Amino acid sequence: WLGYLQGQSGVKGAARKAAPVWSHNVSVAEDQEMISTAIAELTQGLEKLFDIKPKVSHSAASQASESDLTGQEAHGVWLGTWTGSEAVAQAFSDIERSAVHDEGYLIREDKEQGRLFIGSETPQGVLYGTFHLLRELVLDQESSNGVHPAEGRLSYIAEQPVNALRMINQWDNVDGSIERGYAGKSIFYENGEFTRDLGRIRDYARLLASTGLNAISINNVNVHQCESLFLTERFLGDVAKVAAEFRAYGIRLFLSANYASPIEIGGLLTADPLDEQVREWWNIQTAKVYAAIPDFGGYLIKADSENRPGPFTYNRDHADGANMLAEALRPFGGLVIWRCFVYNCKQDWRDRSTDRARAAYDHFKPLDGRFADNVILQIKNGPMDFQVREAVSPLFGAMEQTNQVLEFQITQEYTGQQRHLCYLIPQWKEVLDFDTFAKGPGSEIKRIADGSLYNRPYSGFAAVSNIGADACWTGHPLAQANLYGYGRLAWNPELSSEEIAEEWVRLTFGHDEEVVRLIYGMLLNSLEIYENYTAPLGVGWMVNPEHHYGPNVDGYEYSKWGTYHFADCDGIGVDRTVSSGTGYTSQYHRENAERYESVDSCPDELLLFFHHVPYTHVLHSGKTVIQHIYDTHFAGAEQAASLAENWRQLEGKIDPTVFDKVAKLQAGQAEHAKEWRDMINTYFYRKSGIAEEQGRTIY
Ligand code: GCU
Repeated sequence: WLGYLQGQSGVKGAARKAAPVWSHNVSVAEDQEMISTAIAELTQGLEKLFDIKPKVSHSAASQASESDLTGQEAHGVWLGTWTGSEAVAQAFSDIERSAVHDEGYLIREDKEQGRLFIGSETPQGVLYGTFHLLRELVLDQESSNGVHPAEGRLSYIAEQPVNALRMINQWDNVDGSIERGYAGKSIFYENGEFTRDLGRIRDYARLLASTGLNAISINNVNVHQCESLFLTERFLGDVAKVAAEFRAYGIRLFLSANYASPIEIGGLLTADPLDEQVREWWNIQTAKVYAAIPDFGGYLIKADSENRPGPFTYNRDHADGANMLAEALRPFGGLVIWRCFVYNCKQDWRDRSTDRARAAYDHFKPLDGRFADNVILQIKNGPMDFQVREAVSPLFGAMEQTNQVLEFQITQEYTGQQRHLCYLIPQWKEVLDFDTFAKGPGSEIKRIADGSLYNRPYSGFAAVSNIGADACWTGHPLAQANLYGYGRLAWNPELSSEEIAEEWVRLTFGHDEEVVRLIYGMLLNSLEIYENYTAPLGVGWMVNPEHHYGPNVDGYEYSKWGTYHFADCDGIGVDRTVSSGTGYTSQYHRENAERYESVDSCPDELLLFFHHVPYTHVLHSGKTVIQHIYDTHFAGAEQAASLAENWRQLEGKIDPTVFDKVAKLQAGQAEHAKEWRDMINTYFYRKSGIAEEQGRTIY
């Protein structure tokens, strides 16, 4: 989506819009790293977009008041902070300025005078404003139907990020592999060392900042032996270099830390959070980290989860563990981001009383109020694990006195692994718009994530990245839309899936309306298509064990991971009701608890998540469960074929390398969707013995 830098994202043959009068001069009064980044981005962008060479002046002109600016010199862009640039401050009224704070920004284009101003309270805000300006300029290029999609929008823009923390989590390992990575090797590490290619990391920082993201953790939440050493002299110098790249783009660096570090790298005999020596060890080690990286963000912790060490070993709870780290980080303004993905991963499928979906709430809800003020709990969007469809986590709305961030997974672990097209923004929007009723109607998850419902000091979004060293960054070129969309949504959760899709397509592929229409349609239909041919009605998990790609209905059915669908010859689904099941429904507030508790009011798409029903159960749609399974799987495979067909229509209209790559991927998806269809349909036909109504082929 920054394709303008390579002369892309225009319409072939369309007249390039003339350079605005103000684009030839850029004036700045401040000497600040992020402002320098903003200027570099702006001048490069203007150069590429309009084929001009803007003149940058660190001149008195930008300090002079607006009324002093006359004649030719008065044309230009002024950018800066309210305190750093008088010209910028004076371009906006007190009321206008007071409408934005911190990373928020204002842009004003004065066409008559040939001036444009970008201003903010902070340098970050200036940088975000600059990216916004560039985005508008690309969107405003002439479209194939002769219109300018963004005409006139620059006259006045006021933007304020809704979420304070807008974070990305890398699951990269120092050996160069990426846990659940589908886009090649790590851009951060190779062969047990940090990469020497900081340029790629800088490009990544720029990609992230251009969408408004402001924090990153650079290593896998499963911290292995070697990565545990990131906190030590062995690697701190390298971490600091990476931090510097991100700093230039206003992005704060965090590390995933190993809870057992005091033992594994400190040589202590315990990691008990209440042990004085252990606490002291973390204090000292953390001070060393800050000596190397003064603006270090803090620690991201996966503890007592999937065999990772944690406070349970010492009969302590998660508040004890998190607060110990909070104490070490507090003097430096650092944060502990503590993940809630904690459950019993050594379950027996016969044990119907243990329900993995219950686990996060059961562990964390009783701790509400006990976490230090610089601890944030990171909660996955659903109670299981990033399935294409699952309920939302009931932990949202359950903790009034605890800082929380919402965790999404951009990397497509369970949604086609960047070989299938799956635009995830609609899924995330559903989560964000879900009303928890925690404080009555209007208690949507987005209001918990942004901290406003409970007035929390720290809150926001985190998501697992989908990038790697692939030339196109994301394996599937169209999977970039998920990274882009995540950043845009973290900035403003009110943006719609449609707006984000259109914006991304135009920025990436230009304004040929046929191209826009086709790719936009592919993106917006893709999630439903993927859901159609994979696991039905919210049940999830019908994938091959370990790598999680491809259909395997019983792949996880008898394993220890607590991920069952309980299909037999009579029916399918997990009974999570209070009346006859695991009682999970009671973790929601009354309105939702009641809705899910009854088969009559439970929404179809989550029926098997909450209930065990016979195959003949009739859905609200009027179909039986079994016929729904057959229909969606036949439909899904056909729709996947039509995605491939749609893409083929773009031949000659877009870059041939991208065209070929996506064409191959879509053909593969269409084939693989048939495999899904047949595996699922055959399994349920055999189990249920119920014929398909239309007599279509079931193997
Ligand atoms: C999933 C995923 C793991 C990951 C884990 C987590 O279970 O398969 O690879 O480590 O989530 O979020 O910690």
